Amino acid sequence: MKILVLNGSPKKKSDTFRLTEAFLRGMNKRQRQEVRVVNVIEKKIAPCRGCFGCWKRMDGHCVIKDDQNEILDLYRASDVIIWSFPLYCYAMPSHLKAVLDRTIPLVKMAMRQEADGSVRHEALADFSRMHTLVICGCGFPDWEGNFEGLRKMCEVCFDGPDMVCVPETPLMNVPQAAVVADPLLAKFEAAGEEYAASLTLSPETVAALETPMISKEEYIRNVNG
Ligand SMILES: Cc1cc2nc3c(=O)[nH]c(=O)nc-3n(C[C@H](O)[C@H](O)[C@H](O)COP(=O)(O)O)c2cc1C
Repeated sequence: MKILVLNGSPKKKSDTFRLTEAFLRGMNKRQRQEVRVVNVIEKKIAPCRGCFGCWKRMDGHCVIKDDQNEILDLYRASDVIIWSFPLYCYAMPSHLKAVLDRTIPLVKMAMRQEADGSVRHEALADFSRMHTLVICGCGFPDWEGNFEGLRKMCEVCFDGPDMVCVPETPLMNVPQAAVVADPLLAKFEAAGEEYAASLTLSPETVAALETPMISKEEYIRNVNG
């Protein structure tokens, strides 16, 4: 399988990417996958100009000449897209959002109405084989509402992706927290194996991956201390 990982953390030592790496290890366990990781922060991706030049050309590319067209080519050729990023202000980091905005060359201006009444643009090509997985880390402990906006956006933009939203991810790079971080990495590895076999994650697996490593109270105490 061709897997494109869009790493949206701007950091060299990303908390979230540690989880994604463990997931990829799991995906590679039974069969070697063709994995391409794009560190988005290293790419030159301008914000969308809103010119709709792509819809005039309809060739699946953006009129801006920067690194986005290379990403669009990789995107179209992939079976699985993994969006791996930290939560920034209840959403994805702006440099990654620029990549998402500039995927509109992959759809047409033409609209269609879904059975549920929602309206979408028609895809430029058949993307039905493609699977999307979102792995998002964040600095807050678990609380209802932290991931709500992101979840809604991903649900509509990626057409109901598999999604794993992990609280307390700064613990992934705290050596003293290895006792709770390592078991989570092992769970991510097992989840990667599950995903490679079924191209989806069971609700039980997602719940296990999203379970906080330590209690909200202990986490806040440690942060404030
Ligand atoms: C600009 C900025 C905005 C952030 N916004 C949130 C937020 O809305 N909610 C949250 O829980 N954490 C937030 N965080 C914390 C990061 O999500 C957290 O530190 C994460 O572990 C970083 O992951 P990374 O190492 O993969 O980049 C924010 C961090 C930064 C720098």
